[in-house]
Amino acid sequence: MHLINFKDLTGQQLMEIIDKSIEVKRNPEKYRNALDGKSLAMIFQKTSTRTRVSFEVAMTQLGGHALYIDWRTTNFTMADIYDETQYLSRNVDCIMARLKRNADLQGMAEASRVPVINGCDEKYHPSQAIADLMAMKEKKSTLEGVKLVYIGIYNNVCNSLVEGCTKTGVKITTVTPIFNEPSRDEELLENARKTGLYETTLNVKEAVKDADFVYTDTWIDMEFFLDPKYAEEKEKRIKLMMPYQINKELLKESNAYVMHDMPIHRGYEISPDVIESSKSIIYEQSENRLYSAKAILLKLLGKY
Ligand code: CP
Repeated sequence: MHLINFKDLTGQQLMEIIDKSIEVKRNPEKYRNALDGKSLAMIFQKTSTRTRVSFEVAMTQLGGHALYIDWRTTNFTMADIYDETQYLSRNVDCIMARLKRNADLQGMAEASRVPVINGCDEKYHPSQAIADLMAMKEKKSTLEGVKLVYIGIYNNVCNSLVEGCTKTGVKITTVTPIFNEPSRDEELLENARKTGLYETTLNVKEAVKDADFVYTDTWIDMEFFLDPKYAEEKEKRIKLMMPYQINKELLKESNAYVMHDMPIHRGYEISPDVIESSKSIIYEQSENRLYSAKAILLKLLGKY
């Protein structure tokens, strides 16, 4: 079993991982030796703080071991991904990869003898969405009927939220004036629409009024944020997206908790006063990456 997105998981299986994340958070000692002697290879083509730290610490706290592998320092750069993954999967028990292209991640999963976890590609970010759903369940005790409004660019994080929410009974509304085309997955959107839980609008003020959670993400993908070649597109996006910034004015008639998957670009997609407000659960949400990483590893390694 791999975790590339949520397509192969039923809603019930996804709920089990969310509930296990909460249970692991409450009872860390119970899982202290659960992955004794197991190794996780973590391979990164892109930068990361949370995904790297959470999975590495998760393995240590479960009694196992994680290897951080910078793609650029390996022979993945010059060889076929199939051959390199064949080798890698004969030495470790699980692979977590943050690759630029979902097609490469799919190739890795096909070649691997051990489970492969998507650590975020251009289409999906499933481990993030599990931590997000966990944070929501902690706040509301249930996910059934809860309403999340995602405001920003329609991207990989948004895909996994749409898929994760609609599989677990959460109503999700997207307010996304720009669609990041590399993230497009029509099948995922069609499946979400069929549930009746997914809708999209550009009326941001109306959308947030009855929201339980309001969520945003960066307007610029991480690999482009500091790239001078992307400067013009960045300026264009900032101008178009500024009316959709999450700030005190937008939330004045809303009682929603505020979420962000981080890294945050203060003053762009969200204002600093909202990040630090009592309704912000952003840091709890990011802390939950650790517990959800543990639950994902335990699931894929057959421990529940
Ligand atoms: N949210 C998230 O995936 O953070 P990193 O990019 O720092 O891993």
